[in-house]
Amino acid sequence: MSNLNKYIVFYIVLILTICSVYAIPNNLNKRHDSDETKCNDFCQKSKLPPANFSSEQLTGFCSSTVLGEVPSTDHLASILITKPSYGEIIQCNKEFILEFKFVNFQPGAASNLSLDFDRYPQSINEDGNIIGHYHVSIQKIPSPNAVPDPKNYTFFTPINYSPNATETYQVPIPGLTEEGMYRACTYTTAESHQCINLPTGDRGPIDDCIRFKVEKD
Ligand SMILES: *[C@@H]1O[C@H](CO)[C@@H](O)[C@H](O)[C@H]1NC(C)=O
Ligand SMILES: *[C@@H]1O[C@H](CO)[C@@H](O)[C@H](O)[C@H]1NC(C)=O
Ligand SMILES: *[C@@H]1O[C@H](CO)[C@@H](O)[C@H](O)[C@H]1NC(C)=O
Ligand SMILES: *[C@@H]1O[C@H](CO)[C@@H](O)[C@H](O)[C@H]1NC(C)=O
Repeated sequence: MSNLNKYIVFYIVLILTICSVYAIPNNLNKRHDSDETKCNDFCQKSKLPPANFSSEQLTGFCSSTVLGEVPSTDHLASILITKPSYGEIIQCNKEFILEFKFVNFQPGAASNLSLDFDRYPQSINEDGNIIGHYHVSIQKIPSPNAVPDPKNYTFFTPINYSPNATETYQVPIPGLTEEGMYRACTYTTAESHQCINLPTGDRGPIDDCIRFKVEKD
């Protein structure tokens, strides 16, 4: 073979080799494997204990649960609290209803807290909405500039049941005994209790909060 022919053969082999490497589509299964390995490696290197999926790991843990199914921007969950109205005055020790409406969510699904906390990735339903459940949390705001301590709340409830056909919840709140300014918020989680994952950070919030006052007669 002449030197010229050797060069031609060399370059043909080189080009075919490069093409064949790039022709392998960025193998999806391989990508999943390496992501899982990365997750596991991440927790192996973490100083925190691995997740045991019990709700009792209050001192923190490291989880390798993947994000799961993330909906499109046409399915961003959203809530509006419609009762009480903002700034409403509610009497001490008087039961009242907190009402909220929602869109783009399938509520009423909650995994077993003591077995499956944060265990499962997020799932979406056939309509494309995240499957999960809501909560209502009420805190007293001791002064306008004091950031509330999340460990200290006046009322909290998960909402594991389905709403009625109007996609509205009416949550009974027992009478609050102390006067003052309060903050009532919803918060939305996936079925396995983790905060929900959305496809964009460029959006309105998921949850709503209102302020109201509790006063003696
Ligand atoms: C999970 O871990 C926590 C501490 O991180 C421990 O208190 C709890 O008993 C463990 N639960 C199970 C089911 O192993
Ligand atoms: C959750 O699992 C625990 C432990 O197995 C069990 O005792 C409890 O009844 C379960 N809760 C529900 C709501 O199924
Ligand atoms: C929790 O909040 C209430 C109401 O603001 C306050 O009276 C109480 O001292 C707080 N408790 C703790 C442990 O911070
Ligand atoms: C559904 O709506 C009705 C009427 O507004 C209300 O009485 C009921 O409490 C609601 N159900 C739920 C689960 O919120």
